[in-house]
Amino acid sequence: MARPAPNYVCQSCGAVTSKWQGRCDACGEWNTLQEEPGRTGEAAPKTSLAASKSKGAKLELVALRGESAEPPRAISHIDEFDRVTGGGLVPGSAILVGGDPGIGKSTLLLQVAAKLADGGEVIYVSGEEAIAQVRLRASRLGLSDAKVELAAATNLRDILSTLEAKSPRLVVIDSIQTMWSDVLESAPGTVSQVRACSQELVRYAKRSGATVLLVGHVTKDGQIAGPRVVEHMVDTVLYFEGERGHQFRILRAVKNRFGPTDEIGVFEMTGEGLSEVANPSALFLSSRDEAASGSCVFAGIEGTRPVLVELQALVAPSPLGTPRRAVVGWDTGRLAMVLAVLETRAGLSLAGNDVYLNVAGGLRVNEPAADLAVAAALISSHLNIPVPPHIVLFGEVSLSGTIRRVAQGDARLKEAGKLGFRAALAPARPKGETGKKAKGEPALTTYEVADLNALLDLLKDGSLGS
Ligand code: TYD
Ligand code: MG
Repeated sequence: MARPAPNYVCQSCGAVTSKWQGRCDACGEWNTLQEEPGRTGEAAPKTSLAASKSKGAKLELVALRGESAEPPRAISHIDEFDRVTGGGLVPGSAILVGGDPGIGKSTLLLQVAAKLADGGEVIYVSGEEAIAQVRLRASRLGLSDAKVELAAATNLRDILSTLEAKSPRLVVIDSIQTMWSDVLESAPGTVSQVRACSQELVRYAKRSGATVLLVGHVTKDGQIAGPRVVEHMVDTVLYFEGERGHQFRILRAVKNRFGPTDEIGVFEMTGEGLSEVANPSALFLSSRDEAASGSCVFAGIEGTRPVLVELQALVAPSPLGTPRRAVVGWDTGRLAMVLAVLETRAGLSLAGNDVYLNVAGGLRVNEPAADLAVAAALISSHLNIPVPPHIVLFGEVSLSGTIRRVAQGDARLKEAGKLGFRAALAPARPKGETGKKAKGEPALTTYEVADLNALLDLLKDGSLGS
């Protein structure tokens, strides 16, 4: 029998080539191709299915409407977690929780497992830590009495036969990169192993009705180590993120077959594990330096929830030929765009300056609605005029310098009112439309900003008060 030809699999994107090369053609990463033995079964089929003689069984086709009693979701009563999963864990689903090493994935999942352990069997399989280490963590979290069953194992065959025998409701696999299937020859953590193990576990979830939570480490460029393929296989992908040096952690849904995406849950890492942050806006604004120029408050929306965050900009003359542009928590390309529009449309000369932009508190903002607040922070720092502290901003900047409307303006204003802000700079509403104001809501003066020049004038002439 011919020995199967080796495959070279890119450990970053999962592309397969038959020859080794220094750089992956598919994703452009260097030194990521690794030899993984090909499987004999993977040779291309000689005839098509339609042409072959043996016929498959007839599938039973059914209507869309049907009696499928939806099993109840498992609610952990950790509200920030439940919101991100779309209202609890769906039986028979597979969820990938990705994040940097050390961000708190194991801690979060142990807490979730402990909360859910009262309602039925919960198994926590650790491939990274020894039993004693997990126990130590549990006692630190005050969860030693929870009815979680613990195993330290990495062999998927052993794990699956244990699960089949126990039929738990919830299984945590920490982490998918440490699991290995003896069907394959390649080492644990390689793309083929991660892919094969995830596939087996997803299949197990569907078959048994258990919820499977997979932990996945993220590579330096933010992908779940190796294969994006895992993301396609599972029902839900959650990312656990946060800046090092900040105690805030944000759990974000990037894919969810059973709920909304872009929903976030905010946690704080404390000495006793992760605690929920019910009012993130208050937290992100807690240590604001109100009188400083270059800082302002953006009224954002994360998922279904309004979140106010402080944006800080510093514009300083650059000693370098090519000025520095450094961004934390926002998109670099988007900053370049706002800078270019400020130069061309509002006549600000920023070219010879270093520009730093920071979203305070470790949140990552993805909305274009932050453009106006970014522009205000930049102008404020450049001209050294503080933005009055009782003001929030939101709006998208277009290439022509006009301010465009963004979704959920009323929700943003409402949250700002609740937190004691008195005014907002916002995009102009179409003629005839007035903002809805619920009874008893604090009055918020809205200044409609048509374009960047209008913003510049408002900030300069002091009519916003202080
Ligand atoms: P961990 O859950 O092990 O991270 P991951 O599984 O994502 O690699 O979290 C490790 C970090 O969390 C570690 O730096 C210590 C910190 N930590 C606390 O601050 N408080 C705690 O109660 C626990 C359990 C961990
Ligand atoms: Mg861990």
